[in-house]
Amino acid sequence: MTTHLTRDISKIAEALRFGQTVGIPTETVYGLAANALNEQAVASIFSIKGRPTSNPLILHFYNLEQARPYMEEFQEELYLLEQHFCPGPITFLVAKTPRVPEIITAGLPRVAVRFPSHPMLRTLLAELDFPLAAPSANKYGAVSPTQALQVKEQLNGLIPFVLDGGPCSFGLESTIVGVEGQKVVIYRLGSIPLDDISVVLGYIPEIKNQTSASPLAPGMVKFHYAPNTPLKYFDASVRAKEGIGYLFYQNIPDGFPHLQCTVLSQGGDLREVARNLYRSLIEMDAKGFQQLYIEKPEPMGIGLTLLDRLNRATAKFQ
Ligand code: TXA
Ligand code: MG
Repeated sequence: MTTHLTRDISKIAEALRFGQTVGIPTETVYGLAANALNEQAVASIFSIKGRPTSNPLILHFYNLEQARPYMEEFQEELYLLEQHFCPGPITFLVAKTPRVPEIITAGLPRVAVRFPSHPMLRTLLAELDFPLAAPSANKYGAVSPTQALQVKEQLNGLIPFVLDGGPCSFGLESTIVGVEGQKVVIYRLGSIPLDDISVVLGYIPEIKNQTSASPLAPGMVKFHYAPNTPLKYFDASVRAKEGIGYLFYQNIPDGFPHLQCTVLSQGGDLREVARNLYRSLIEMDAKGFQQLYIEKPEPMGIGLTLLDRLNRATAKFQ
């Protein structure tokens, strides 16, 4: 089987109804989707990704109303965020009802739900009478693809189709939130910056995405999002050398050969850096460099999420 790129939403809907696993676009990263209520189809997500079944999956719905039967409650604090950011790149961890198959939540009491904004995915979700379970469409531990062709490169032959929705507009995974006590907690930094969430809530939520022996959400395991080529942070002591690749945010410093460099945002916009990061990492990874260097982001706005991902991507190589 070769994997085909298509823009035919009905064909993808049919494949999903048939129990197949397919690549789908979202505004964050591409997903590897299946009918969440078909346990066999969900099981194939884990085997295709090479992902342990102890790592639960996010359910994707058209809107909050569609998700109601799967959630025991949806707290006021979350409703505030839903009103503000949905459809969009935020995921809610809430108590599940028995309708959610155990395989989705890996036996945990809460389920992750999200209402994506990508227009083609929304058309697809509106056509389906079941939610889509979809992790990012990378092999376990690898960099998440943000364009259809990069899904095909990672999963060629393992899935029949990728719905080609163009490049993802955010480029980093969704922000995962839940409620503990009366307060919102952030379990994974993501495409919606902490600052934006704090403004809506009127307080700064606690971040609980630290690494631990049994991570609540394994997107939080220490080594993740890593290219094959060793990746380290750039600093002023790093010199230009043959066989080394460099990822810069805006400007290439003097003396660095442009052929060995990628610029993530010509205009120096951190959101554009975020949008281009995974695609550029995957591209640079394929160029056969012995080593890659990337600038360390300032921990402000979306930079905090970038820092989280890059700390994990570089952790393996320190
Ligand atoms: O932007 C996104 O969220 C993308 C797109 C495709 O929607 N999806 C994504 O899924 O990033 P995934 O599986 O790569 O990451 C989801 C994270 C995982 O770290 C998982 O452990 C955590 O969410 N998660 C999912 N369900 C959970 C649950 N019931 N309890 C705790 N953590 C959960
Ligand atoms: Mg992932």
